[in-house]
This record gives sequence, C-alpha cells and structure tokens, in this order.
Amino acid sequence: MKFRSDFVWGAATSSYQIEGGAYEGGKGLNIFDTFCSIPGRILNNDHGNVACDHYHRWKDDIAIMKEIGLKAYRFSLSWARILPDGTGRINPEGIKFYSNIIDELLKNGIEPYVTLYHWDLPLALDKLGGWRNPEMVKWFAEYARVVAENFSDRVRNFITINEPQVIIGLGYQDGTIAPGLKITTPEALEASHILLKAHGAAVVALRTFSKQPVNIGYAPCGNMNIPAGSSNEDIEAARRSMFEIPSAAAAPGSTVWFNDPILLGKYPEQGMKLCEEHMPKVTDTDMKLISQPIDFLGHNIYWGHTVAADGGSPKIISDPGGFSRPPYQWPVTPDCIYWGAKFLYDRYKTPIYITENGKSCRDTVSADGRVHDTERIDYLNGYLSGLKKAYLEGVDIRGYFQWSLMDNFEWAYGYSERFGIVYVDYQTQQRILKDSAYRYGEIIRTDGEDL
Ligand code: FCB
Repeated sequence: MKFRSDFVWGAATSSYQIEGGAYEGGKGLNIFDTFCSIPGRILNNDHGNVACDHYHRWKDDIAIMKEIGLKAYRFSLSWARILPDGTGRINPEGIKFYSNIIDELLKNGIEPYVTLYHWDLPLALDKLGGWRNPEMVKWFAEYARVVAENFSDRVRNFITINEPQVIIGLGYQDGTIAPGLKITTPEALEASHILLKAHGAAVVALRTFSKQPVNIGYAPCGNMNIPAGSSNEDIEAARRSMFEIPSAAAAPGSTVWFNDPILLGKYPEQGMKLCEEHMPKVTDTDMKLISQPIDFLGHNIYWGHTVAADGGSPKIISDPGGFSRPPYQWPVTPDCIYWGAKFLYDRYKTPIYITENGKSCRDTVSADGRVHDTERIDYLNGYLSGLKKAYLEGVDIRGYFQWSLMDNFEWAYGYSERFGIVYVDYQTQQRILKDSAYRYGEIIRTDGEDL
C-alpha cells in the first residue's frame, strides 16, 4: 500500500528565513529587519541579513531540490521585496527574482506552492499599525492582486497566510517575535478579526485576478491531540479539547479560532462564550468575506498533547514522557499527525495538505563529510507512517511539505536550531544533503511504500 502517484511531496521554506539580500534589489524593510537589529531580541543577536543567501543561490538550491527528488516546493514571497512600501509602487527587481525562481522550478518539474505572507510585514505598514489597522484588509488584497497578476500564469497553488496563531500570539501578545508587542486580549481579538478579513479579501483577489484556475488554502498551526487510549471516550475527549480554547487570551493562539470562521463561516461556540465580551463588532458581511470558499486546508503539524477522558471532561496530559525532546524542546509525538489530520478532516471536510512538519536536531558534519541525522530519519518515518495510516483510512490528504528544505534562521532562536534536510554551513554557505534528505528522496520515489 502506498500514496497515490499524484501525491504532492515537497519541502518548505520562508522568505525571511532563507533569502538574505535584506538591503538588495530594491527591497523595502520589513518588521524582522528592524526587530532583529535590536540587541537581545534574538538569540546571539542573529539576523536574516544574509541567512542562507538564497537571494543569490536560488538556482543551486533548486538543483538540490531536484537532486532530492522533490515534486513541490513551498516558499513565501517577501511582501516588501515586491511592494517596498507595502502598497503602491511595485519593485520590478522583486518580481524578477520570484519569476526566475518560478521558471526554474517548473523547468525542473517542481510545482511551486506560494505563500503570500509568512510574517515579514513591510515596515511601512507596521508603522501604520500593521495587523491592528483595519486597512490591512485592503492592503493585503492589493498585494494579492499584484501577486496574481505577475505569477498566476505559472503558479497554480497559493497559501494566503502562514500561522495566524504565531502572528498574533507571539508577535502581538507575547512579543517574542516581530513586531514584539504586548497588546490586550480585546486588541488581539480585533487584530485576529482583521487578519481573517484580510485572508478572505486575498482569496477574492487571487480568484479575480489569476490567469488560470488556482488552488487556494491557508496554513495555520495549533495543537493536534492524541487520545490517551483507544476507548471512544478518550478519542472524543481528544477531539473535543483540540477544538476548545481555555481562555479568551488564548483564542488567537488556537487552531479553531481561525479555522472555524474560514471553513465554517462562524466563530466557535465554546470559544465565543469566553470571548464575547472582548470581541470587536462582527457583521454578516465580515463573515461572508472571511469564509470565501477555499480549496484546501493547509496545516503545520509538529507535536500534540495526549488527552484522556476524565469523568466526562478532557484531561490534557501535556507531558506524558516516553518521547525524545530535540533541542527545540518540541516533543516527538508521531501519532499527532494521524489524529490531527483525522480530527481536522472530520470537522472541516476539506482536502488537507501538511504544509509543514519537521524536527530540529543538533546536526554536525562527520569526518566522512556527511551529516548522519538518524533522529530526523526516525522522525520522518514515524510521522509519515502516521500520515499514511490516515490517508489509507480515507482522510483526503493531498500533500506533505517537510520543514525545512534547509537549515535556516529560526526566528527568536536564530541559527541555533537546524530544521533542514539539507545542512547549511553559515560561514561558507556550503550545502550538504543530510542522510534524511536521501531517505526522504527514497520515500518520494516509492510513494511511501515501505512506511
Ligand atoms: C513554524 C513556522 C516556520 C518554522 C517552524 C519550525 O511555526 O511556520 O517558519 O519556524 O515553525
């Protein structure tokens, strides 16, 4: 038994994490350019000014994708490279940069999956309030139109926004990533609502201005629960708590807060009870815009809690032990991809792509010049076996993107975390395919037959 031959096997990256070229090619500044320059914000004061130098090495990087055997590549566009001021003036060098990448991918038989927004907001828009400004709906739609007009003759797959949970939760509530704010719960709920409307407006713009029919999705994240045992009670407890929120402050960090409005056209009932008194005005027109039909639900899946039924109410056992903890401290819980995909599909009945999944390891180059990342191979085998199980049971899973194609700038943790299946030596910019890249290539070639 294996995945169908049209299953989309890919790897993912994002603009700020790999491109570098922060001050080149007419690019405008974004919020990470400035955030990273504030001492103490990022581990070791690392920044993405050069990152993986993908801005200059994109062609070689695509050759590596081809060597691995990837069928698809998910990457994000730097909004400020395309529209340096966020709106208005288009930067032809930015358009050319991404056009070249798209052409080269297609020449190599690799399908582009383009994310419009992976956190690097143009600074010019942040100065006007960023996601707190209702005008963001208009600005994001304008950007989506420019993207559709310039790339949709060749790009057929678009992802509007990556992880609203992190944008609002870490960027605006916790302040650990750019723009580093600590806003109140009502303010965060308002920003989330603006973001949801911006997503909807971008879907409309992509559909209106694309030059061919396009597949559109978005890529949230959130906890994927695993039932503690095989009883129906445990399964239902895991499902229930995956779609519940513990408090109003936690709403913008949850999966359901964004998925339900987008896919079901309404905020979740249980969550709404907690949030109602803090909510901005929500109209029917808003909800109609937010719930524009999309073609797929992307989901970034890394780990999950274990949940048991405890006298009728779910009991979250967040750290059941028995799993390894890689440097990033995210537990390795392969079952979460099986249960997560299943629970998501049951609730939303929308085709699913795993838009990110992967592990950071303490990778080093061995004396033989290779990187023997056996832990990552175990991770890949474990998670992909879980995915295959869900797939074979009928969950409509269309594709899987490994995070990440290569080691890169891991936000607040700088270059200390290596998530790549390709090793990057940041001194020389040399790339080395890790053992996991070869294993992933084998999985792709055999459509996961041995999983
Ligand atoms: C996700 C982000 C991605 C990367 C991985 C490890 O939350 O979307 O950019 O940081 O985590």
